[in-house]
Amino acid sequence: SAPLRTHAAAKGKFIGTALATGPLANETSYKNIAATEFSQVTAENAMKWDATEPSQGQFNYSGADAIVNFATQNNQQVHGHTLVWHSQTPGWVQNLGATAMRAAMQNHISNVVGHFADNPAVVSWDVVNEVFDDSGNLRTSFWYNTLGSGYIADAFRAARAADPDAKLCINDYNTEGINAKSTAIYNLVSSLRQQGVPIDCVGFQSHLAIQYGFPGDFQQNLQRFAALGVQVRITELDVRVQTPRDATKDATQATYYRNVVNACLAVTACQGVTIWGFTDKYSWVPDTFPGQGGALIYNESYQQKPSYTAVHDALAGG
Ligand code: G3I
Repeated sequence: SAPLRTHAAAKGKFIGTALATGPLANETSYKNIAATEFSQVTAENAMKWDATEPSQGQFNYSGADAIVNFATQNNQQVHGHTLVWHSQTPGWVQNLGATAMRAAMQNHISNVVGHFADNPAVVSWDVVNEVFDDSGNLRTSFWYNTLGSGYIADAFRAARAADPDAKLCINDYNTEGINAKSTAIYNLVSSLRQQGVPIDCVGFQSHLAIQYGFPGDFQQNLQRFAALGVQVRITELDVRVQTPRDATKDATQATYYRNVVNACLAVTACQGVTIWGFTDKYSWVPDTFPGQGGALIYNESYQQKPSYTAVHDALAGG
């Protein structure tokens, strides 16, 4: 049957995956599935600050370029991830005073976004990532502690200046349902847009787990953001289970994947769904949550799982 991207395109959506540079360079099965099934890619790590500017002013685009070149060869769009985050940011940034930190942030955004600004494959960026905590307060990261809340608007303005055509997003996790954190993002986006700050889209990471239940108001949540005039996108979908997997867990997981795809299909402003990888062979989950895994749509041997069929059938449905 036709690959995921064919069905997604017929619905006017992208279907994407995060890519890791190691297997992309070394594994034929990985490369073939990535090229065949997906119409959009996000670098899992290669565009983050520790990869692109490990020392101040020393920019390295080797991994990022490898992913963008792969996407170009395969007619895929690229979502840049991520410019300003509290994690995977070198110590030299974290230790700067306010004036120097603001300048370093603006220089980083200008260089990284500028590097890809003329590349038609790169269409959007996560400008800020995970700036709220789960209670809906701004995260007390080194960014916030040094610069105050104004760093967020400054980051969006710098990104717009570096690429006037790219869609500029805010991205976070545990925001799939209507809750304190997603409402805080909603209020921030509303306020930024009223102030004329260039923000175009909201990313919902969607790192789900079957033991926590599916957020039944996911589609309603996407819709309220759409009503603000922004695009929405599912940016990092995976659905972890307690390992070992079994048929019952796989079936439950498949319903979560189906529900997410259907929520995006039902909301015109939803551009598409990016899965955070595709094979359980390379997933961040077991490293972060020992005893959990099996979160993706192919197993470790590149066999399609029930979750693949769920995504496929949801995209092909209707
Ligand atoms: O590159 C080094 C390697 O040189 C070293 O030998 C090895 C030993 O630990 O580590 C390698 O770096 C790892 C890197 O992934 C690349 O594989 C880091 O330790 C590891 O922490 C890092 O994990 C990434 C994580 O972000 C870091 O925060 C995951 O791959 C990546 O999937 C994950 O992605 C995040 C999104 O960016 C934001 N949202 C949440 C999501 C999941 O945590």
